Amino acid sequence: MVRREFDLAELPSRAVLFASALGLYEARLNGQRVGDQVLAPEWTDYGRRVQYQAIEVTGLLQSGPNALGAILGQGWYAGRIGMAAGFHNVSRGVYGRCLGFIAWLHLEFPDGRIETVVTNGTWKATDSGPIRASDLLDGEVYDSRHEVRGWDAPGFDDSAWLKVRTLKGPELSPQVNEPIRVTRRIPAREIQEIGPGVRIFDCGQNVAGWCALRLTGADSGQEIVLRHGEVLNPDGTLYMDNMRGAHPVDQFFCSGGGEEKFEPRFTCHGFRYVEISGLPPKPDSVEVTVCVVHSNPAETCTFASSDPVLDRVVDAIQWTQRGNMHSVLTDCPQRDERLGWTGDAQVFSQTAIFNMDMAAFLTKWMRDLREAQAEDGRFPDIAPHPYDPNQRFSGNPGWADCGVIVPWRMYVNYGDTEILKRMFEPARRYVEWSLRGNPDLIWKNARQMTPLWYGDWLNADTFVGLPDIPKSGGAVPKELYSTAFFAHSTELVSKMARVLGLAAEAEQFGDLAHRIRAAFNRAFVAEDGRILGETQAGYALALHFDILPEAIRKVAASHMVAALQPYRGSLSTGIQSTVRLMLELSRFGYHREAYAILMRSEMPSWRYMVEHGGTTIWERWDGWVEGRGFQNPGMNSFNHYAIGAVGEWIYRTVGGINPDENAPGWKHFFVRPVPGGGLTSVSMGYQSIRGPIRSEWKLEQEVFSLQVSVPPNTTATVELPDGSVHSPMGAGEHHFTCHCKSHHRNHLDN
Ligand code: BGC
Repeated sequence: MVRREFDLAELPSRAVLFASALGLYEARLNGQRVGDQVLAPEWTDYGRRVQYQAIEVTGLLQSGPNALGAILGQGWYAGRIGMAAGFHNVSRGVYGRCLGFIAWLHLEFPDGRIETVVTNGTWKATDSGPIRASDLLDGEVYDSRHEVRGWDAPGFDDSAWLKVRTLKGPELSPQVNEPIRVTRRIPAREIQEIGPGVRIFDCGQNVAGWCALRLTGADSGQEIVLRHGEVLNPDGTLYMDNMRGAHPVDQFFCSGGGEEKFEPRFTCHGFRYVEISGLPPKPDSVEVTVCVVHSNPAETCTFASSDPVLDRVVDAIQWTQRGNMHSVLTDCPQRDERLGWTGDAQVFSQTAIFNMDMAAFLTKWMRDLREAQAEDGRFPDIAPHPYDPNQRFSGNPGWADCGVIVPWRMYVNYGDTEILKRMFEPARRYVEWSLRGNPDLIWKNARQMTPLWYGDWLNADTFVGLPDIPKSGGAVPKELYSTAFFAHSTELVSKMARVLGLAAEAEQFGDLAHRIRAAFNRAFVAEDGRILGETQAGYALALHFDILPEAIRKVAASHMVAALQPYRGSLSTGIQSTVRLMLELSRFGYHREAYAILMRSEMPSWRYMVEHGGTTIWERWDGWVEGRGFQNPGMNSFNHYAIGAVGEWIYRTVGGINPDENAPGWKHFFVRPVPGGGLTSVSMGYQSIRGPIRSEWKLEQEVFSLQVSVPPNTTATVELPDGSVHSPMGAGEHHFTCHCKSHHRNHLDN
C-alpha cells in the first residue's frame, strides 16, 4: 500500500485522477475507492507500454487535509501468466518484479488555477497490509488481522512506513477500452457438504470472477479456504484436474467477532462451483456471492426463440464471451493459460461483435496485435505476446490472420476506416511474409516457419474413445487449410487498400489473391469440384473464402453435404471451420442440414453441452461424454468460445440480421431469417452502431410473418422464405407475411 497526504485550502471545481501501475492497483482517496474499475491498468506489453486510467474524483475531495493512496497487486506484470514457465526460467515476474504506482491528480479551481498532486519520493509504503499474496492464476491470501485502520484517510501516522523508490516505467497510453468491472453479483447456494466442514456452493453459471463472502461467528485467525472449479466429479467433489498449473484458491483469515466481509481484488478464477472449508458451523451465518468480472462494453444482442434449449445455447455463447474478455480476448479463464489466442478470437469475432459493442475493446486489442508483430511481418498467435514473437507463436494460419480479418470486421460493423489505416501496413507485411515463404503460392510451412502448425484445431479426429465416430477424415490437410487463409487474407488486404484509396495496392493484392486461388484450385480441387481429403472443413473454407471457380461452387457444396454422411449428418469440423461450414450450408440452400446440425442433441453438438450441464461453451466437442467421462485434463476447458462462433450463424440465419460490407457501419443491412429446426418463433434485437435493429418472426400453419425495425438513416433489404425480396426498407417498422411450406430455400435459385 502506498500513500501521501496533501492540503486543500479550497475545494477544486473539478478534479481528475490519472493513475496507473506496474502490477494492479486500486486507488483510494479519503477512505473511498476511486472508480469502479477492477484489475487496472489491465494487460498490455508492459515492456513497451502500460495504460493509464482517468477518473473524475471531484466529489471525493475535502477542504483541509486529504489522503491519496493505492493498494497494489501482482497481476499480469509481476504475477504468473499462462505458459511463462516454458519460456522464462520463472513462471512469475515475466515483465518485472518491483511493483510501481504512478498518479497525477489534476485539480482545477474556480479561479482557473490548476494544481497537481503527483507520485514522487515523498510517498510512503508498506508491504505488511492484509493482502499477504495475490496472483491472477493462484488466488489471493487475505488476513484481516493485518488490516490497517485509517491508512487511506488523512491523519494516519505513517511514520513507521517505508520510503518509496522512484522508478522509470514504460510509455503510458490512455486506456481506450471500457474498464473491467464487476458486472453482476450472483448469490451462490450450498448444494452439498462433502466432508466435515467442507461445503460446495453453486451459483448456477460458469463465470470468470471471484466470490464475496459475508459471515459472522468466526474466531480470530480462523482460516477459510475457497477452491474454485468449473464442474463436479460424479461424487459431488470439485473437478480440478483441468486447472493444470493454476491454483485457484483464495484464503481468508478472519479477525474474529462480529460480521466480516471478504472480497479479493487481485485475482480472477474461471468457475461455477466453490468449495469452502473452515466456515463457522452455523450455516445461516454465511453468504456467498459470485462476482462476475470482465471488460464491460455495452451488450448489444437479445435473442429468444420458441426453443428453450436453443436459447440456452445462445446464452452460453454470450456467457463464454463474458468469461473471456479481460482487456484481451482469451482462450479460457480457468487454467494456467488465459492467453490472447488470436485464432479463437478471429473465428469468434463476428459473434463477439453481435453480442457487445466491441469497437473500443478491439481497437485496444488490435494495438496489442500490432505491438506483437514479429520483425519479419508475422502476426502473433497470441497478443499480448510475452514470449518473443520472433522466436515462437507467430504466423500460424488462422491465428495470425486475425490481424487482417478482425480489422475488416470492425470496418464492416463500425464503419471504422481509422482501424484500416492502422492495420493496413501490418496486414500487408504479414501477407508479404507468407508470400516470401511460399513463392509457389501453396502455403507449405517449408523451413518450419511455424513449428506448431495447428490447422483446424480440435476437429473430430481428436475425439477420444468414441467408437461410433470415424477415427480419421475430420482434419483438413494443413497445406490446403493454410493456403485458404493465405488467399483470404490477401483478398482482404486488397479490399482494405480499396477502401483507403490505395488503387495500386488494391490491384496488386487483388491480383495476388487471384493467383493464390488459382494455385489452390490446381493443387487441391478436381474438375468435378472434389477437394483433396474430402473433408467438411476443406469444402467449408474453400467455399467461404470464395476460392473455387463460380461454375463448380454448387457441386462442391453438394460434396460438402455428402461429407456429413460418414458422421451421420453431423460435424467433423474443428474450431476454424465449424461456423464456416454452417454459413456455407445456408448460403447454398442446405438449411435442413444446417438446422439438423444445430438442433441435434447427440455429441458433437452445442445442445449436448447445455443438456449436460454446460452454461458456457466447451473447448472440446467431447470435453465430457456420457459413459466415457472427461477428455484429457491437460486441455479441457469448459469455458472456451471458439466453438461458440456458431453464434454468428444463429444471428444471421435464425435471427436473420446481416451486415452489408458494401455499406459499412450498418448503413444498409439485410434481414433474411430462415425458418427451420421446428422453430415457431424467433425474436432478435441488435443494437447496431446506427441504432436498434429488430427481426421477429413467427411460423403459424405455414404462414410466416416477420416484423422488422429499421433505425433512422439506414435502409434494409428484407428477404422472405418464399424468395421475395423487399428493398429498400427505410426507418421504421415493417411487417411481412408469406406462405412458407418447406425448410428449403435456395438463394442461388432465386
Ligand atoms: C488454446 C487454444 C489455442 C490453441 C492453439 C490452446 O491451448 O486453448 O484455444 O487456440 O492452444 O492451438
